[in-house]
Amino acid sequence: MYSTLKSQPTIFIIFGGTGDLNSRKLAPALYNLFLEGWLPDDFSIIGTGRTPLTDDDFKGKILEGINSFSRSGKAADDKWAEFSKHLYYQVSDIKDAETYKEFGVRIDNHNAEWGTKANVIYYLAVSPNFFPIIAENISKSNLQDPEKTRIVIEKPFGHDLDSAVALNKLLSGIFDEKQIYRIDHYLGKQTVQNIMAFRFANAILEPIWNRNYIEHVQISVTEQLGVEERGDYYDGSGAMRDMIQNHLLQLLCLVAMESPVSFDADEIRNRKVDVLKAMRKFTPEDVRLSAVRGQYGSGWMKGKEVPGYREEPKVDPESNTETFAAIKFFVDNWRWQGVPFYVRTGKRLHQSASVITIQFKDVPHLVFPTEANESWQQNRLIISIQPEMSIRLQVQAKRPGLDMYLNAVDMVFDYKGTYTTEAPEAYETLLLDTMLGDQTLFMRGDQVETAWELIMPILNAWQGRKSLNFPNYSADSWGPEIAEALIARDGFHWFTLPIKSKK
Ligand code: BG6
Repeated sequence: MYSTLKSQPTIFIIFGGTGDLNSRKLAPALYNLFLEGWLPDDFSIIGTGRTPLTDDDFKGKILEGINSFSRSGKAADDKWAEFSKHLYYQVSDIKDAETYKEFGVRIDNHNAEWGTKANVIYYLAVSPNFFPIIAENISKSNLQDPEKTRIVIEKPFGHDLDSAVALNKLLSGIFDEKQIYRIDHYLGKQTVQNIMAFRFANAILEPIWNRNYIEHVQISVTEQLGVEERGDYYDGSGAMRDMIQNHLLQLLCLVAMESPVSFDADEIRNRKVDVLKAMRKFTPEDVRLSAVRGQYGSGWMKGKEVPGYREEPKVDPESNTETFAAIKFFVDNWRWQGVPFYVRTGKRLHQSASVITIQFKDVPHLVFPTEANESWQQNRLIISIQPEMSIRLQVQAKRPGLDMYLNAVDMVFDYKGTYTTEAPEAYETLLLDTMLGDQTLFMRGDQVETAWELIMPILNAWQGRKSLNFPNYSADSWGPEIAEALIARDGFHWFTLPIKSKK
């Protein structure tokens, strides 16, 4: 497929150019955008990092990344030859003004060669400690042009509310909000974008999308992977900061938001902030009743023995960090008053799956004889984000036969069965949007802060009260028993799908 929507000539400067994110996600995404004709004719990708490398060394690394991780498989020789002409490497010391001078020279050279002023996208795929120094140096070296410069900030945006506010303040002293692209890669997933399409392009849903018809909502992002090599980052973070503050709250916003009046980026982000603002604040007592945490112990996964969290590399052997969290949220507005939103996420769980389930209220009156209803189930709408990409509406139907027996059946829309085109990766969508200047799928400063505000009481309570029973769930389980209790107290249970995991 070739696009008609071409972006302006663009220079990408990727900090962390030799890092994992670049080889696994960014480079394959840029390559696929190139293959499908989304990149402008004039573009260059400058990887930068501390390691001294030649351009050819860098190209070798990028090719390895593409060959291992691109959804389009190994790069074809001719396509790679074309693409790699646009790749460069610059060794850098991000604290040193010289580094930025060199970027300046490269930018000027490209502009002269292309006869235009290119957009410059600084992609910060580095540890968050370096965000401020890079932003400040871009500004000091006069590399900041309000019309041409964009800065992409990877997660985590802040470690808590105060640090997020401080980072926003620093960035907004240098850049305009329209130049700042805060990544939450969940928003780039096709199935996540489809939540808006599904809700706001279908008139039949709106009348029932509220407290009158919906009993409760579950948002569950479970992973089989442990923290593996990311112990140094994860041990200072945990499931609340790593997943709930961003990905899961964003999913919740998409389910709960009001209809925007247009597809304008700020309009959509305003509607999402409205949800975050309406969410019930946690008192210390609410934290005790409505938030549970867990940490995985050792166990077996797919026939292999796996270490407990505290035995993972670069993790404190007495760590109090949660690798699992389950929270009951409420959205205090007219649409959602009294409807619980149960959210859970964790590592080393039985299944890798991201699923949103909307459970509808029961019928007001049962007309069938008792035996007909043995496998009675309330209607459910199941939005499966990954690995299965589908939406299922579960309804009651009559089983074939002379008796009147009912059971739940699925009405299914699934991407694989419906479309033949392959879905792009989240980073393809997000990188293209950055080039085109579309911020709809990026986090605005106030959104990030409001999400931090909401979870701070939980983080503070957990920090002040060490969990005495960690580790409290074993690998390949569904998490700690207290997570079952959290939802069982309200008469519900966590739903799981009989789907095969990718990981
Ligand atoms: C990242 C988290 O943001 O999302 C990881 O830092 C997590 O800990 C990952 O594994 C999950 O993303 P995905 O796309 O695999 O669901």
